[in-house]
This record gives sequence, C-alpha cells and structure tokens, in this order.
Amino acid sequence: MYPLLQPLELGALRLRNRIVMAPMTRNRAGPGDVPGELAVAYYAARAGAGMIVTEGTQPSRHGKGYCRTPGLHTPQQIAGWRRVTDAVHAAGGCMVVQLMHTGRIASRYNKDADARTVAPSAIRARGRMFTDTAGLVEFDAPEALSSAEVADVIAEYADAARAAREAGFDGVELHAASGYLPMQFLSTGTNERRDGWGGSRNGRLRFVVETLAAMSAELGAGRLGLRICPGNPFNDLYDAAPADTYRALLEALAPMGLAYLHVIRSPLATLDAFALARECYGGALLLNDGFDFDSGNAAVAGGVAQAVSYARAFIANPDLVARFTHGWPLAPFERRTLYTPGAAGYTDYPAHPAPQ
Ligand SMILES: Cc1cc2nc3c(=O)[nH]c(=O)nc-3n(C[C@H](O)[C@H](O)[C@H](O)COP(=O)(O)O)c2cc1C
Repeated sequence: MYPLLQPLELGALRLRNRIVMAPMTRNRAGPGDVPGELAVAYYAARAGAGMIVTEGTQPSRHGKGYCRTPGLHTPQQIAGWRRVTDAVHAAGGCMVVQLMHTGRIASRYNKDADARTVAPSAIRARGRMFTDTAGLVEFDAPEALSSAEVADVIAEYADAARAAREAGFDGVELHAASGYLPMQFLSTGTNERRDGWGGSRNGRLRFVVETLAAMSAELGAGRLGLRICPGNPFNDLYDAAPADTYRALLEALAPMGLAYLHVIRSPLATLDAFALARECYGGALLLNDGFDFDSGNAAVAGGVAQAVSYARAFIANPDLVARFTHGWPLAPFERRTLYTPGAAGYTDYPAHPAPQ
C-alpha cells in the first residue's frame, strides 16, 4: 500500500490516510462572518482527506484581517461550523480549525467598526490588501498591545479553542506562519517590545508557547497542532536569525506533546526547515509545499514526515485521494475565482467520473 494511504494517529486525532487538506482562505463566509451552506458542501466534498485543516479563522473580531473570512467567536459562527463538522464527520472525515489572527496584516475596511488592528509593536507593514468596500488599500498602522492586552489576546485564543470543541472540531491548529500575529511576535523585525513578550529570543517565543499552553488547557495538547514557516518574508516579515529563533521554539515545544507540527518549506535557500524540524523536534511532522503524490509517499516512506498536506491540488480536485490512489489526472484550478464570493470556483469542481 502507498505510505500516504496508511492510517495515522496524531495525538487524539485519527486519520484514515496521510493526505491532509492544507488550510486555504477562500473568502466565502456570509454576514456575521458565519460559514454557510457553501462551506458545508465544499468541505464535505473533500472529507476523503485524512484530515482537513480549515481556512484561517479569526479567534476574535480584532483578529480579522481579510474580507469574508469566517470567525469562531459568536454563537452564530459556532452553529455554522457545527453544520460543517457534522457533514465532514458523516462522510467519515476528521477536521481541525486553523485559528488565524492576522495582527497588523489587516484593514479596518475588512472588520467591524469597533475592532482594532493590533501587533507586538506599532510598525506598519509595507504593502496593500484587497477590501470589498475600498478596493486595494494600504495595511492599517497597528497599535502596539500593552502587556495586559497580550494576555487578553491569549485568552481570546483559549475561548476560540473552547468554541472549536462546541462546533464539533476534532482539534485546532495555531497559524504561526505567513507573517500574522504569532509570527510577528516571533520575529525581530516586528517585535521591538521591551517587556517579557519580547526583548530577547526567549521573550519573542513566549506568545506562541503561552497561546499553545492556554489552548491545551481547553482541549488537551493531543488535539493541537502548530503551523510554522521559518524565514518566510511574506507580508513584510523579517527575522535577523530565523534558524536560531525556530531551533529555540522547537526545543520549547518538545515537552508540550502537541498532536503535530505543520512545517511549510522555507523559501530561504540558507534554511532547510524540514531538516531543522526533524533535528530539533521529536513529535509528528506534517510537511507542506509543492508535494505531489510521489514526493509525498517518499517523504513518509523515508521517515521525514508522518503525513503531507496539499493545498492547491484540493481546489479543483475534491476527490484528490481517489485521484492519487487510481492515478487519475488532476484538474487545474481557476485563479480568478480563488477569493470571490459564491459557488463558482468553490463548490462546482466535479469529482473524477468513475470508470465504467
Ligand atoms: C488560495 C490559498 C489560500 C491559502 N490560505 C491559507 C490560510 O488561510 N492559512 C495557511 O496557513 N495557509 C494558506 N495557504 C497556503 C497553503 O496552505 C499552502 O501552504 C501552500 O499553498 C503550498 O502548498 P501546496 O503546494 O500544496 O499548494 C493558502 C494557499 C492558497 C493557494
């Protein structure tokens, strides 16, 4: 049997195969940032994955950066997600929610009028983002969180972890990649704090470590994953010594007993994130970025990864596991409809026809 088709236990999570659907923001949430019937159909059609990691989902209204992203902090959002997890479970799938607080990568046009844009330090990211109401706009200038407010943000993540259980999720993944809030704390270019939440390498790690600990108290570490991409400059992020930062982070995580660590290939030629993770982290690794079926099988067979995640391949191939298994061709996706509202380019990609 192909290594990717073998079942796997990741902490308390039970995967029927090792082909994970990676998180993808698709901007289809309805009013109130509630996932609706389209999300039910989209995720249920992809339940053949060993595990689905949802699109980035804000733990609080302050954590929202983009337009039409779903939340997990109101009763309506929890009820919306419950319909999604029920459908995925009915189809035999396993599903974790990715909590994404975008920090300074945000526009006030994309969030409630009383929501703030916050970051470790008041340093504005260079760049622009799309908004429904004002088109392309500069990122907001963020407010620096006070020491007490950092603890409040961690409490929001813990509340969202509790909400995840209520919504029927099997677990939670903390998004600490792509230049969002947790990565802003980790990195020298965005964290100039002088209190215990910065000021030294261990100070920069503290937000991620304490957020995981707070969510673990709600769910158990065996239902918790962490996503990282060491050295990624995306969203104007800079760290002076990413290998040093992530080596220390991985050593701090080791005793926590997380279900998995989700590592995205580093874009830096000088940093092999997979090798660093294998060297410094003894737990289960879920690897991502640019894998096909053959390279995924090789990563699992070689003991480099316990599972592999696929993002873009799942967009136009809801039945990706069946296509891989039978060697059927993969359909290409339409770029134009990646982030547009509605069913087009979201729920209208068909499964491969069964052979006669
Ligand atoms: C449309 C789209 C949306 C994405 N949104 C997220 C997201 O919300 N959270 C996240 O961690 N990564 C996100 N990613 C990154 C993917 O999870 C993945 O790391 C990347 O596409 C590389 O994997 P692949 O080669 O299998 O596509 C997104 C990627 C795409 C294409």
